[in-house]
Formats: sequence, structure tokens, C-alpha cells
Amino acid sequence: MKPGLIRKKGSMLNRKTETILFVDDETDILALADEYFRHKGYQVVTASNGFQAAEILKSEKIDCCFTDINMPGMDGLELAEYVRETDNTIPVIVMTGYPSLDITIHTLKNGVVDFLIKPISLNQMELCLRRVLRERELFVENIILKKEVESKARLEVLNRELLYKVEELDILNKIMRHFTSIDSSFDIFKRLVEFSLELSGAQGTKFYVINDTVQRPFAVAVSGRECPDGGSDGSKAVNSLIMEVAADGLPLLIDENNGVRGLPRGILSLLLAPLKIRDKVFGVLMAGIHEGSARFNAKDLFYMSFMTQNAAHAIENLALYENIYQNLFATLYGFVRALEFRDAYTKQHSIRVTNLSILIGRELGCAAEELDILSVASRLHDIGKIGIRDDILLKPGQLTEVEFQKVREHPDIGADIVGKLGMWGREQQIIRCHHERFDGSGYPRGLRHDKIPQLARILFVADAFDAMTSDRAYRKKINLDSALQILQDGAGTQFDPQIVKVFTSLYRKGVIPQREAGTFPPP
Ligand SMILES: [Fe+2]
Repeated sequence: MKPGLIRKKGSMLNRKTETILFVDDETDILALADEYFRHKGYQVVTASNGFQAAEILKSEKIDCCFTDINMPGMDGLELAEYVRETDNTIPVIVMTGYPSLDITIHTLKNGVVDFLIKPISLNQMELCLRRVLRERELFVENIILKKEVESKARLEVLNRELLYKVEELDILNKIMRHFTSIDSSFDIFKRLVEFSLELSGAQGTKFYVINDTVQRPFAVAVSGRECPDGGSDGSKAVNSLIMEVAADGLPLLIDENNGVRGLPRGILSLLLAPLKIRDKVFGVLMAGIHEGSARFNAKDLFYMSFMTQNAAHAIENLALYENIYQNLFATLYGFVRALEFRDAYTKQHSIRVTNLSILIGRELGCAAEELDILSVASRLHDIGKIGIRDDILLKPGQLTEVEFQKVREHPDIGADIVGKLGMWGREQQIIRCHHERFDGSGYPRGLRHDKIPQLARILFVADAFDAMTSDRAYRKKINLDSALQILQDGAGTQFDPQIVKVFTSLYRKGVIPQREAGTFPPP
């Protein structure tokens, strides 16, 4: 306890627990108040000036403060101000022997709740104390209630914000999912317009390509209703807005409430979001509302921008993937070229076989995807020869049985090389089966009939025809008619008869190119 501080506990236990601070430079008054209020059951703390009182207030929980005005050092008015600033729930009652209007106004301004004029009876003090304590209690309750209301309101706001965030996160996730499983740029633009139509409540969406290369907006994907463009003037207005967004690289929302720019005729609300690839605008996504009372808002603009960003990432990934894919092709084709280059007799063999395979495949009505597969498999069909020693591969004479066994491994080795790349499952199968014969007498598995993939049966015919019509280290080539005859003789045994039939028909029509100087022209 601080020097000069007198603190005594009231003798009437449990009647009151409030702690009252009395501040006066007259010790007699302090002693009297102390004695009286202690007997009434209060806890009493006294101080002889404002400084002492301020110190007490820092460490004690005070429920009410009676203070004289005129005191040395910090006076009662300064003390009242201090109390108001540090804890405005403590009522301060001022006691003075010289009241004036000025002082009264000043004290009330400082948050003093009552004003007692000396001489003051102890009974009067107690009545005043009870009243201010009751008022304080109401005041504190009011503050607590206010805080509760505020906290409840804040909680509601937080709850709403949380719900909004959850909803937003859900939408953002949905957008991201939409653009992660795409395997062609065309699909990206298609999904962009379809998903923005669904998400924004637009009645029509369009994606325009516009960039350094394409300088006028060019629509590549549309969803929903076509924007009524108000004739050529309207089109001009839409184009001019698209070009503006492409130039600024910033999204734009326009409706009748946003009168900065005029709306193109026939459109009530318009959203434009640029799609940027590496910070350069590639195109602009547009969404329009043409009728009804709904309008786009800032949230729609945010989602549209997020969507174009995700679409841009998907395009970049696709380009990267396609680039890797192309590089991979180039590398593998390079292997095959190098392989064929070692043997003067097999130069360009894989290219000729590919061209023949595609001719047959087309005639058989294969779909574009199958022709792509056939093309890759044909180009790479002998890549497995990388794993066979040169002295076997380039041997001018007949191979021994052991050497021939080695050569027979090349379809499996080739399929394994392609398989290790983790893609091209069907190409892998075709490479593995490109020496299987129709009657099951081929290698490496001895598969027969439709157990051999059709594209492998096509490749087998094309490969055999090119091999027979090419010089080899160990034999001379035969002429085309003789080669065709061998194919026909082998139909149903070595070769799929249907494919030989198609090949013969192509040959008769002159579609099978007459090979000169060792190269078939491409089909
Ligand atoms: Fe082969």
C-alpha cells in the first residue's frame, strides 16, 4: 500500500462490497468518511490529493470516487478528467465549499456525475453514493449489453463473410477444376464461354481473340443467346469496347447505373474480361444481359477475371505440354532416322511405311484419331532395333537362329521404349504386334486374327510391301507387281485378307504411289 494511503475494511460484513475512494486534503473529513462508510459495510480507500488518488486507481478496483476540488498538486477537476480518460465507468462526485456556475459546468463536462456542497452530511453522502452506484450499475449493464449487441452483430457479419468465402472458394475451385482437364485450346474457349454463362447469369457469352496478330476482335466460341448487337452501329460499339479492354488489359463492367460509357444498343449489362498469357492480352471474354432486371455486379466481374486467368494457365500448360510432346516426337523420330541411316538400305523406310499405312487406313475408313495413332506407330515401329547390335542388324548374309531370335525381340523393345514414356498405350500395342501374322505364326506372341490390333495388321502389310520393294544387304528388291502377288498369296495366312483386298484395290487404282529413286511420295 502506498504512503499516505489509509485503507480499512468495513465491519458490517457482506452488506456492501463496493470500494469507495475519498480524496480530500482535510484529514478530519477523510477520517469521518472512512469511519462512517466502513460501518456501513463499504471498503474504503482514502487519498489526500489527486496524485495519490491516480496512483490508487492504477492498482485498485474502485467503484466510486468522492473528491474535493481544491487540493495541492492535482486538483479534483484534474482527477475527474483523469478518471474519465482511464475508466469512464467510475462515477466521480465532487465536494466543494465554493460552488460557482463555471466550476459546476466544468466538472460536469469532465464526467462528474454529482456535485455536493460543503458542509455535507454523511447521510447525504450515502444517499448520493447509493444513487450513483445504482446508476453506474445500469451504465455498466448498458455497456455490456451494447457490447453484446455489437458482438452479435459482428458475429453475424463474420458469419455472412464466412459463408460468402465458402461460397466463393467453392466457385473458385469449380473454375479451377473446369480448366485442369482440358486437352485442346478449342476446348478451353468452349468451356470458358459455357461456364461463364452458367456462373454469371449472363444470357449470352462470347470469346474473342484479339492481340498483336489478330487486330480486330474475332469470335471463336459462343454460348447462350447471340448478343443483339443493334446492327452495325452496335457491333462497332461492342468491338470498340473489346478493343479498349484489350488495350488496357483491365476488366470492365457496364450497365445503366454505370453511366461512364454508353452501352451498346440492345445490351442492358455487359462484362468484359481480358485473357492474358504472360501479361499480354490474347483475347477478351464478353458476357451480356439483354433483358430482365438482373445485372452483373463486382463479384461477377471478379469470377470472370478469375476464369480467364485459369483459362490462360490452361493454355500455357497445354502449349508447354504440346511443346514437350512435339519435342518427344522429334527426339524419337530422330532415333529412328539415325537407326535407318546406319543401314543404307533402310533409309526413309519408316516414312514410306507410314505413308502406305495411312493410305490403307483411310481406305478402310479409320477415324482421324486412329490415323494419328497409326501414323505415330508406323514412324516408330522399328525403334526397338536400337537395342540390337549392329553386327546382327547390318549383317549382309543370312542370320543364324540365335541372331534371328535377337532380331525378333525388336517389337517388344520398341513397345517398351514407347511405354516408358507413360503414354501412347495403343501405339505401344501396335509396335509390339507389327510382326504378328494373321494365322498366328508371327512373333513375338504368335497372336492371330482379331487378337492382333487392326492397325498392327495394316502396318504389317505396309511394312512387308516396302521391305520387298527395297534393296536389302542380303537380297535385291522385287518389282511392285511381284510384291503385290506375294501379299495376295499370303492373304489369310501371313496377312489379313481384308487389308490385302483394300491394298490391291488401291494398287489397281494407281493410288499406291509408284516408288522411284527409293522414296514413295507422301499420300
Ligand atoms: Fe520391324
